[in-house]
Amino acid sequence: MILIITGTPGTGKSTVAGLLSRRLGLKLIRLSALAGRAACGYDAERGSVEVDVERLFQIVRPLARGDVVIEGHLAHLLPFREATVVVLRCSPAELEERLRKKGFPERKIRENLEAEALDVCLIESLQVHSDVYEVDTSGMKAEQVAERIERILAGEGEAFRPGKVDWSEEFFAGG
Ligand SMILES: Nc1ncnc2c1ncn2[C@@H]1O[C@H](COP(=O)(O)OP(=O)(O)O)[C@@H](O)[C@H]1O
Ligand SMILES: [Mg+2]
Repeated sequence: MILIITGTPGTGKSTVAGLLSRRLGLKLIRLSALAGRAACGYDAERGSVEVDVERLFQIVRPLARGDVVIEGHLAHLLPFREATVVVLRCSPAELEERLRKKGFPERKIRENLEAEALDVCLIESLQVHSDVYEVDTSGMKAEQVAERIERILAGEGEAFRPGKVDWSEEFFAGG
């Protein structure tokens, strides 16, 4: 079983994947620890390393044996055909708070809030995978998020099919 946890930075991927790994005995693959080996350049404007996804896939594929959880904001780009993909979501207001606490610079905060409001990770996930869910983490504890994902894995995930989360009102109209 391959569980992919993706989402905009700050949505809780690392925290929740760690919990799930312990609770379910899944092997934990953190892409942040591997992405450096797949670096293909540096985007000076965005201040971030560019990752060659095909190369990252070659690195991750042999590690993804047995029951694994793969977490990272690029995880959904890995074309594991049989994966269950969970996109973590967070309201822009709460995400802004989380990223500020993490010490993100203002520009990075804006960029990530916009990506979250535009459903970037979800849309990309749907382009690559067929078994996709989204879990709104706003106002929830990481344990509660993990419980929801356990329900999805148990086949009780219909309530988490894509299309329910929509931040456009809050983000684009609210100012
Ligand atoms: N469900 C949650 N509710 C509130 N805060 C959370 C939740 N999950 C994670 N956090 C906090 O938000 C921040 C980002 O979490 P993290 O797991 O690092 O996100 P990511 O790996 O997606 O960037 C951390 O400070 C973490 O403690
Ligand atoms: Mg993380």
